[in-house]
Amino acid sequence: MDDIELAVIGGTGVYALATLDDIQTHDVQTRYGAPSGPVRVGRLQGRRVAFLARHGEGHSIPPHKINYRANLAALAELGAGRVLALNTVGGITGPFGPRVLACPDQLIDYTWGRISTLCEDAGSDVLHVDFGQPYTPSFRARVLAAARARGVAVHDGGCYGATQGPRLETAAEIARMRRDGCDLVGMTGMPEAGLARELGLDYACLAIVANWAAGCGDDAEITMDEVLGNVAAASAGLPDLVAALALG
Ligand code: HPA
Repeated sequence: MDDIELAVIGGTGVYALATLDDIQTHDVQTRYGAPSGPVRVGRLQGRRVAFLARHGEGHSIPPHKINYRANLAALAELGAGRVLALNTVGGITGPFGPRVLACPDQLIDYTWGRISTLCEDAGSDVLHVDFGQPYTPSFRARVLAAARARGVAVHDGGCYGATQGPRLETAAEIARMRRDGCDLVGMTGMPEAGLARELGLDYACLAIVANWAAGCGDDAEITMDEVLGNVAAASAGLPDLVAALALG
């Protein structure tokens, strides 16, 4: 049985879960190396919940340098079986304007040069995991139910396009992604989702829309102030949603 009810990975603008009590800090070393920082495990209404800041607690690790394998392995080693990934994104299509929360059901991977599998090391098993539904359908349903129960508006579905970063995209790149079927764009969705599948973890993404992607809004420059301001505003309901998910 999992002794951690839920693990949460925080993205840009979400560096802690303020609602955790009785926090213990774990500096985990995994066979893949060190995660982005300490894993904080605390209690939320009696349930154990783990939190890890994907970019480090001081946002010092860019998307292409994150040790995604170590992050997920650390959570799994501590006993987590379910991971809610918070990902700050840009919105590409109509419903996904700034401050919207979304639980995507598909993704397209445009990243390159990242270690994207547990099969990287000599002697490791060769895995060909099914990835037709990249986010665990039953866990997505739980996330959406928790949001509904607490009156937190979360859009059901959408396709997340994972780009390499750390620069933002050109308008032409976003236009191509729109033609491909992407609704959201972010830099950290992959290889995390694929690795979670290889590790046998339940995994869902809660995307926080911070800005219109390049060429989709009013053509104003996208600034970190805009991104962080919108993430803070959109995150107001997160503690409640996480509590409902941990208790559910
Ligand atoms: N593109 C990629 N990643 C992002 C964006 C974006 O526009 N906004 C927040 N993360």
